[in-house]
Amino acid sequence: MGKGFFISKTLGIVGVIVGTGVVATIIALSVVYSQEKAKINEAVNPPTTPSTPWEHYRLPDSLSPVSYNITLWPRLVVNTSTGLFIFTGQSAVVFQCKKDTDLILIHANKLNLTLLSLISRDGATAPTIKKSWLEVPTQFLVIQLNSNLMAGSQYELYTEFIGELADDLGGFYRSEYTEGTSPPVRKVVATTQMQPVDARKAFPCFDEPAMKAVFHMTLLHAHGTVALANGMNLASVNVTVNGQDVTRTSFQPTPLMSTYLLAFVVSEFGFIHSTEGEKVLIRIWARKQAIAEGQGDYALEKTGPILEFFENYYSSSYPLTKSDQIALPDFSAGAMENWGLITYRETALLYNPASSSNGDKEWIATVISHELAHMWFGNLVTMKWWNDLWLNEGFASYVSYLGANSAEPTWNVTDLIVLKEVHGAMSVDALASSHPLSAKEEDVMRPAQISELFDTITYSKGAAVLRMLSEFLTEPVFARGLSTYLNTFKYSNTVYQDLWKHLQMAADSTPGLDLPASVDDIMNRWILQMGFPVVTIDTATGSINQRHFLLDPDSVVDRPSPFKYEWIVPIKWMKNGKDQTPYWLQTKTATHLPMKTLGSDWMLANTKVSGFFRVNYDSSNWDRLLTQLSTDHEAIPVINRAQVVDDAFNLARARIVSTILALRTTLFLQREREYMPWQTADRNLGYFFLMFDRSDVYGPMQAYLNKQVTPLFNHFKTITADWTKIPEKHTDQYNQVNAISIACSTGVAGCEELTTGWFKDWMKTPENNTIHPNLRQTVYCSAIAAGGVEEWDFAWRMYREASIASEADKLMYSLACTRVPWLLNRYLNYCLDPEKIRKQDATFTIVYIAGNVVGQSLAWDFVRTNWNHLFNDYGGGSLSFARLIDGITRRFSSEFELKQLQLFIDENAEQGFGSATLAVDQALERTKANMKWVAENKADIYKWFTDNSA
Ligand SMILES: *[C@@H]1O[C@H](CO)[C@@H](O)[C@H](O)[C@H]1NC(C)=O
Ligand SMILES: *[C@@H]1O[C@H](CO)[C@@H](O)[C@H](O)[C@H]1NC(C)=O
Ligand SMILES: *[C@@H]1O[C@H](CO)[C@@H](O)[C@H](O)[C@H]1NC(C)=O
Ligand SMILES: *[C@@H]1O[C@H](CO)[C@@H](O)[C@H](O)[C@H]1NC(C)=O
Ligand SMILES: *[C@@H]1O[C@H](CO)[C@@H](O)[C@H](O)[C@H]1NC(C)=O
Ligand SMILES: [Zn+2]
Repeated sequence: MGKGFFISKTLGIVGVIVGTGVVATIIALSVVYSQEKAKINEAVNPPTTPSTPWEHYRLPDSLSPVSYNITLWPRLVVNTSTGLFIFTGQSAVVFQCKKDTDLILIHANKLNLTLLSLISRDGATAPTIKKSWLEVPTQFLVIQLNSNLMAGSQYELYTEFIGELADDLGGFYRSEYTEGTSPPVRKVVATTQMQPVDARKAFPCFDEPAMKAVFHMTLLHAHGTVALANGMNLASVNVTVNGQDVTRTSFQPTPLMSTYLLAFVVSEFGFIHSTEGEKVLIRIWARKQAIAEGQGDYALEKTGPILEFFENYYSSSYPLTKSDQIALPDFSAGAMENWGLITYRETALLYNPASSSNGDKEWIATVISHELAHMWFGNLVTMKWWNDLWLNEGFASYVSYLGANSAEPTWNVTDLIVLKEVHGAMSVDALASSHPLSAKEEDVMRPAQISELFDTITYSKGAAVLRMLSEFLTEPVFARGLSTYLNTFKYSNTVYQDLWKHLQMAADSTPGLDLPASVDDIMNRWILQMGFPVVTIDTATGSINQRHFLLDPDSVVDRPSPFKYEWIVPIKWMKNGKDQTPYWLQTKTATHLPMKTLGSDWMLANTKVSGFFRVNYDSSNWDRLLTQLSTDHEAIPVINRAQVVDDAFNLARARIVSTILALRTTLFLQREREYMPWQTADRNLGYFFLMFDRSDVYGPMQAYLNKQVTPLFNHFKTITADWTKIPEKHTDQYNQVNAISIACSTGVAGCEELTTGWFKDWMKTPENNTIHPNLRQTVYCSAIAAGGVEEWDFAWRMYREASIASEADKLMYSLACTRVPWLLNRYLNYCLDPEKIRKQDATFTIVYIAGNVVGQSLAWDFVRTNWNHLFNDYGGGSLSFARLIDGITRRFSSEFELKQLQLFIDENAEQGFGSATLAVDQALERTKANMKWVAENKADIYKWFTDNSA
């Protein structure tokens, strides 16, 4: 899945500071960790030892599918007697018997079976059925037979069934939207999201990734609608079925593939396609209005080049004949890499130059790139089981930056991976409750355990360690290993060791590539144990050591590690700005004399943050680095300027260096114009805002930031000719947004007038929005924060009328910026009404409101009051529920809040917290940690801000 699965783009790119902006802060203790949560689940429902095969969650190895022949018929109008949208289907699966058995287990979930029959494919008579039923907990259709299926024989199981086409975003589901204005017409789309375990909701299937088969699809659909599936659509004919006239569309059979990559869609969408002559047909599908407005053009323009980039990168041609990409109004993940038919959230595919920002554009380029990368890595070669999900997703996340870089070479997105993946991954992997990237197969069984793996560790740490690997092998060697790996295992399944083996082969055949150990030896330390090291360098002696970095030094690590929390660390480093010969740290402590530093020389380790570790120095080297930053900061590469800030703040949280040292790393920002250091500081200071925006530290902190940001604000004012132009460089465009948002929220003269003026102009001529798309979110937020009901109602109307999802998202976020309590309360109530706020967006909106200092307590009250409703809608499997708990408790840092939280937990203990179980525990732990941090640091911080804001 696209990485948007667990964090929305808006959360990802919004800066701190303007009112609610703090939601973007990456704060520790915030992600659901599968292992820990599994433990808790286990404690709540102790596993009973399965006594029958159907009580096991995994399929037995007696049967293996060969091909399916599936016909599905989704009804896009509601059945007036039942009030349900439904689909009907028939499926015939041919399977091979591997071991004699009198039992067929095949996945099926929430399907009502109306017919079931078994025949033999080789003339013999098939066993007769003794008994069959749906086993709900393990999601099996269980068929007991009167005699044995014979090893070596093939059989065909035929089923007919009815399922609900619900609006639950999983399996075969429906999405709705309206089109036209006079009057608006309601449209229904039938679409799918199978990953990880919902193909079984669409038809009975052997629903495990290694159970690859060939799929023959047929869809029945109303005249005037178009049907899509993984394979190219073949004939469409009009037929009469059960007295109804429908169109029947069949599709080219798929290659051997996994069930989780299937997709089918019936809609009234429009499309654009690539020109004749290109060898792969590329089509972009979306609502007709969106296509007519050209919103698919950017995706179409970039898909071809990105596909070509990956063909070259993998040395392997695209395995299919077409690539459809479709934007859906309701979609839970960011995107899904279904083979040949990729599904997207609208914001991840549709671009409109008149209203989309450069961040929207970057998001689209990287998500397309992520999904296309999976067409080979994941789809052609698939992990054997979900425990290796990290390899699939970490890999796609890493190379998505390479693909996007090839499509937009001027953006330098490969640098931004440090902000977007590496730092984020470190902030969660520094917790004692983190987990190793690679899980044991037997620890990932139940659907909930599988879903939990889609987290920051899997995506971002996975990307970070694979990037590190590619950096020390060098990219050509890495790509060579990939190519032989893909070629060897195409159409089949692998475990991560298979990739190590092929990378080792590539390394061995590269003269001059000296590794201190095998790929396996080095990498297993990064994937089989959680966490990462802080490397401490004493430049007075050249001594160097590593230890497990923990954000909370008091936390207890009770997870044993096979490598005792030591790593083999590749260290690229520089002295006075000059790159030095990389050093491998292979033991707990070592001495590397070249790192000994004399006089005013400074040294800096982890150049370009190519390694997944933090760095600490003796205090003299810290001083020399800070001196360098304050005299000529550009002598230090821009990525490492961001690194110095991020490392210092995190080392301070871990009480390894003082909070004052961390704050001192922000002094040079007065002269800094680059995005990465500003963005990093902004994020890290976000925590200070959360802790202090209701206290007396707030004043001096505002004054300090006002002073630091004023030169940046003036710089952008100048280079944009008084805000009439947009800077050329991609990252400057981002930093312009930071300049405005930080300036406006800290009261820099002229800022609020600017944003409210622009907003007023828009209110005068709603059809002519002249605010530049890059600046819209910040401008809306600032103007709505400064305004009242008039501004809010206007923005709400614009939200309702927005025809592009990214614009709607910006407004949805900004509406949470108002400082008027009753408006915030009304907005909270809208979150319970799917007609006003789509279900996919509701928890985000509540979290945005909680991010606003005024909205914090309102959101907390709201969630407690509507607990049952929210629990029923989101508590089951949805990750957004954990995000909700996390979001509304982030500011908690007082005794009173701790008591309230405890009371809330006690009151609801009986029902439990569903998918937020661990989030609730972490909220408790975090509140205590916050209280401690505030108590220890508040006085010093107050004084430092006061002294440095003059
Ligand atoms: C699939 O089933 C339909 C009827 O159910 C049949 O007409 C068609 O030939 C089958 N296709 C394949 C590839 O088996
Ligand atoms: C399936 O059967 C159950 C129980 O009879 C019924 O409540 C449900 O509505 C049925 N589902 C569909 C889609 O017909
Ligand atoms: C099917 O019928 C519809 C409505 O009568 C018509 O518009 C369409 O062209 C027909 N399609 C085919 C393939 O005959
Ligand atoms: C992109 O990165 C390269 C190498 O790091 C650098 O030389 C170049 O100036 C950067 N371009 C932009 C637009 O920042
Ligand atoms: C939109 O507003 C701008 C600035 O106020 C003006 O120059 C332009 O003519 C307007 N465009 C339309 C279509 O009204
Ligand atoms: Zn993915």
